[in-house]
Amino acid sequence: MNRRHFFEKFVGALFGGTALAFFAPALAYLFPNRNFGATGREFADAFGQVISANSIPENGNQIGMLGGKPAIVLRNNGELVALSAVCTHLGCIVTFNSGANIFQCPCHGGKYDRDGNVIAGPPPEPLERINIKIEDDKIVLS
Ligand code: FES
Repeated sequence: MNRRHFFEKFVGALFGGTALAFFAPALAYLFPNRNFGATGREFADAFGQVISANSIPENGNQIGMLGGKPAIVLRNNGELVALSAVCTHLGCIVTFNSGANIFQCPCHGGKYDRDGNVIAGPPPEPLERINIKIEDDKIVLS
């Protein structure tokens, strides 16, 4: 390999790497992976502490992580419900407004009710429901 050939490959790799570094986060933002996997995982907070089922009061909620993705577990009429916290519009993370009793998306004003149904804004679908089961007071989501 002569010097010119090496330089061409080096510049190509440099531009390719730069383009990949620039576009990969943009693609992840536009097409978020909302697949939580088929196997159950314990619901934990951002520090990895497992969240117990009894720690969520009636009409309360708890945000946590499931496989690196934010999820929310709510207690509605005594029953625990798990929803993805990823907005179905473009993948921003919704927050729960306890005063209005709705989920709100900070990016484009999407709003969801406590069951994750769209009530306003551009989201095309409800928040994704996540399978939930309780094992020894631990919340297991899949
Ligand atoms: Fe949530 Fe647009 S990303 S409303």
